[in-house]
Amino acid sequence: MKRLGVNIDHIATLRNARGENHPDPVYAAKFAKKVGADSITIHLREDRRHINDADAKRICSIKGLLVNLEISTNLDIVKNAMKIKPNFICIVPEKRKEITTEGGLDLIKNRTTIQNIIKKFKQLNIRTSLFVNPSLKDIRISKAISADCVEIHTGKLSNLVKKRKNFSNELKRIKKCSYLANDLGIEVHAGHGLDYKTTKILTSIKEIEEFNIGHFIIGESIFMGFKNVVKKFKTILK
Ligand code: PXP
Repeated sequence: MKRLGVNIDHIATLRNARGENHPDPVYAAKFAKKVGADSITIHLREDRRHINDADAKRICSIKGLLVNLEISTNLDIVKNAMKIKPNFICIVPEKRKEITTEGGLDLIKNRTTIQNIIKKFKQLNIRTSLFVNPSLKDIRISKAISADCVEIHTGKLSNLVKKRKNFSNELKRIKKCSYLANDLGIEVHAGHGLDYKTTKILTSIKEIEEFNIGHFIIGESIFMGFKNVVKKFKTILK
């Protein structure tokens, strides 16, 4: 059974739109677990546009809940994350002006920085994942700098599928990276832009063990209900 990580950032986006306390991401985290999420993902962005420090602290202190905290390589954020001590860390690139994480990490440019961050989290026994583009070179670097997992950026595949364009080359790239990572002993995750259809397509890659999905789950919940959407993803991942 593949695992479903539910990204609840946009529960906080909605709460922040009103500047009050509803909908509460802490309640959402507990509720997601209750209805079948295997873990929760939150992204503590440098501009705190959705999840804030208090949310992250509270969510990471919920007993029995597995939390994957996405962070950039920003030193203050890294220090914060070390204090918050989530179960898992996923290092992502971050640009202030982007609407969402636009691509994987530049592992060539930031290799040493990321390697040092991985070391810090390993000392705290925190599983560390790197958000990477589907590139064999990046998988090899991830291994060389001792990442526990890679999360393969599926944004390009998702866009091609949604635009009904040919996605076979991109799927092949993701497959090859998943095989290589698995051979090297790195756990494989996938995320970004996933909906029912793209998730179903990716389930053909047995090496992918975890899917982290956010925007579609929150958006589709408006019509179908959060519980039903999470359950439908769980069925797809069976
Ligand atoms: N995985 C990572 C590393 C991300 O940065 C994001 C977006 O925050 C997601 C998964 C979820 O993407 P989406 O919201 O498009 O499902």
